[in-house]
Formats: sequence, C-alpha cells, structure tokens
Amino acid sequence: MDDMSTMPGMEMSGHDMNAMTQGAIMLPEGEALRALPLLANEAARPSMFKAKLTAEAAIARITEGLETPILAYNGSSPGPLIEAFEGDRVEITFANRINSEASTIHWHGMPVPADQDGNPMDPVAAGADRVYAFDLPEGSAGSYWYHPHPHGRTAEQVYRGLAGAFVVKSKADPVPAEYGDMVLMLTDLRLAADGSIPGNTMTDLMNGRVGDQVLVNGQRNPRLAVAKGDRRRLRLYNATNARFLKLAFEGAAMTIVGTDGGLIEAPVAADEILLSPGERIELVVAFDSPGLATLGTLDYDRGWMGAGRPADAGLTLLTVDVSETPGAAMPPLPTRLRPIAPLSAPAVSRRLIFAEIMAMNATGMEMGFLINGKAFDMARIDIVSRAGETELWEIVNQADMDHPFHVHGTQFQVIEHERDGKVSKPPFVAWKDTVNVARGETVRLLLRQEQPGRRMYHCHILEHEQLGMMGVLDVRA
Ligand code: C2O
Ligand code: CU
Ligand code: CU
Repeated sequence: MDDMSTMPGMEMSGHDMNAMTQGAIMLPEGEALRALPLLANEAARPSMFKAKLTAEAAIARITEGLETPILAYNGSSPGPLIEAFEGDRVEITFANRINSEASTIHWHGMPVPADQDGNPMDPVAAGADRVYAFDLPEGSAGSYWYHPHPHGRTAEQVYRGLAGAFVVKSKADPVPAEYGDMVLMLTDLRLAADGSIPGNTMTDLMNGRVGDQVLVNGQRNPRLAVAKGDRRRLRLYNATNARFLKLAFEGAAMTIVGTDGGLIEAPVAADEILLSPGERIELVVAFDSPGLATLGTLDYDRGWMGAGRPADAGLTLLTVDVSETPGAAMPPLPTRLRPIAPLSAPAVSRRLIFAEIMAMNATGMEMGFLINGKAFDMARIDIVSRAGETELWEIVNQADMDHPFHVHGTQFQVIEHERDGKVSKPPFVAWKDTVNVARGETVRLLLRQEQPGRRMYHCHILEHEQLGMMGVLDVRA
C-alpha cells in the first residue's frame, strides 16, 4: 500500500465535524464592494509588463479587536490584480519572504514555457528571488490566475491567502467598454474564535477544505450600486481550495460571454452556473429591475465523505442596489464575440481514472487520492506527449465525490460528458483549463500542448492534489 498516506492519530472526531460551525467568526456584511488593487506596471517600454510580487506573512484586521495572521502578495489578499495585453512580454520578480517555506508562482491556465510555470519541481526557497518571464501570445486574452504550487504546501499557502487574478486583455475586445470589467475573486475563509485561520482537519483532507464564509474580493456580501439598465462585465473566479459554487442571480439576468481561456463564440443566457474549484466564468449581467439584485448560492451535492457536509445553499455573495432612475443607455452586447476553431482529429487517446481509497486500520485512517492507481511522484513521468499534436483525454471519475480536472500549460475543449451510458455534448465550444468531473462521470476533452517540457495535471481540490491526485506530463518537441 505504497500509494496510501497514513495519518496516525488523525481520526475523525466530533470536534472535526463541527469545526466549521463552532466558534466561527463571521465577517461583517454590507460594505461597499472594493475592486482588487491593481499591480502597477513598472516597465519602461510599451508591450511589456514588469513588476514584483513579494509573498510574506501579514496581519489582517478582519474583525474588531482580532488579528488574523495570513499570507499575502504585496501585503494584499487576494493578491493584486495583474492586467496585461495580448502580445505583451511579462517579467515578474517573485520574492519569497515566507518564513522557512519554499513556494512558487504558478500561472494557472496561461500558455507559459514549462520552466516558467512555477511547478513543484522548481521551488523558490524561503528568502530567495526569481524572475518569471514569458510572452502572452495573440489570442490568449482570458481570465487567468496565479497561486503557489510548492510540493506538499499548495493547499495551505492558498487557504492562508495566496492567490490573485491575472487578466489578459485583447486590444480588439467586442464587449462594450461601458460595461466595465471587474474581477470577483471568490475565496472562502474559516476563522477560529481567536481570529486565527485553523489548520486542516481530517474532514478537510478527505473532502478538501471548505471554509465558513465565501468572500468576494476579501469581503463578505459586499454591496454594489448600479443604475437601472446598466450592464456589468464580471469575471468570477472560484479561488477556493475545495468549495463548489452553484451560482445564480436573483433580480438580474446573467449571460455567459467567456470561460477560463477567454471569450466564447456567442453570448449564452444562463439561469445558474456551477463553478468548481479553479474554474472561472465571464458574465455580462443586466440590471433591468430597480431594487435589490443578489448573487447567491444554490445547493450542489458534490459528494461528501463523513458527516458534516457544509450547507452551501442560500449564501448571499453580493448585493446590488439597482436605482429607480435609469442610467445612460448601454450599447447592446454583440451577437458574435470571436470564432473558436474546434480541435479535431486526435492522434492519441488516453484514459485517466480518478479514484480515492479509504480504509481504517490499526494506525488510523489510510487514504489515497490516485490517478490510474498511482499517487503523485515528482520523479516519475506519467504521460509523454508531442508538442503540437492533438490528443483525446478521457477523464473517468470512479470516486464517490466530484474531482475538478486541471492541466497546466494549455487550454482544452470539452467534447463530451458521459454518465450512466448517456452521452451529452457541452452547450457551446469553449477554452477551458479546469473542468468538473462529477462522480461516476466520464469527461472527454481535446487537448494540444504547444510547448515542450513537464506539465502537471491534477484535481484542483488542493487537498487532493496534495495527497497524490496529480501526475506529470512530459511534452517533447
Ligand atoms: Cu491552479 Cu496546478 O494549478
Ligand atoms: Cu494550473
Ligand atoms: Cu479531488
């Protein structure tokens, strides 16, 4: 049982089960929604983005009289928003000032060279600096993000506060500028009675850590004021470790305009959206009725081991005050956004089976989160691919819970979902880097890596990634 992690003494207890509700400190609601701080571009020439990101310990004063030790990028959690353009050269110096812990910055979803992607095999030691440098190709506009990816520490560094958004913009953007363009980073937080962020329990390790409160740009149910008739472009990020967010607007109409890797071909109206950990969605929201509009969560059963599944329905994430008097007329959303060439004719097909194994023995609970029967090994290459060749990947979930599949270095196209022998096609073509694979489901996707080097693929429930549900893909020229 080499592939199992044994955690003696970490048995499930009533205390663990209730850790999420006992003594939890909740943030105040109803403050004005803050935009994320923007990372200033220090480049001296055009078409270049240059800046520094320092990861270090900080103290957040989240609630009155209590200090919360967190980790922050440039003092801010979520980290500062990076905005660059297609065609830009990016050079970001990463200063790891986290006390005695290695870290990396991984550019989630971005087509960066393998040795610039912040993989676990390229750690930046505590106290060290390194420069990440890459080019943003034409056509790469999209809603990406950045977060640490050090071996064995990703989950904790993220839930302690390290994650930020990286938006790549297009110079010819079809979505009217009048709609604005706002990132909403959704994170979740658990605070102990003394204001500290507690470590993971056994329940967290099995299910992934789910906090007590979902925050939008670090705020709980903040308020936004708009005029009647306004349209807003909102980029929603699920930056939680493990919380599935089934989202719906009440009092406003949502239209999907983009996914992880940028705009889709044409706008698609949506009543609800399931955003699994790691995924993003780009929306245009129409506020046509005066009064209050709210963004909230609906119930979604993602499969839960043990007792204490957190109630995830009925959370209000954002409250929008829509004025009685109409604002300036907004231009309509174009009916075509951009063409997406479908990937086709795969040269190779592969099958990846996701499964978890749980067993009780004399020393405690043994659990393994495995892909094709194996737990992650940095020194092992699991798949060899050729750069520029399209592949069909079949992700089979044989587990009792959903696992969001993510691969580094490229964007893929989902072509089919299969469950109980029934096959369905996604409603539209889209570029994605993360897709939920529900329990008992098979997802088929087409994938092409353009750049050589080693890439990670894994479940984006960060605790599962950490416990072994990750593999290494070696792309050869
Ligand atoms: Cu956001 Cu390897 O992942
Ligand atoms: Cu990634
Ligand atoms: Cu998982």
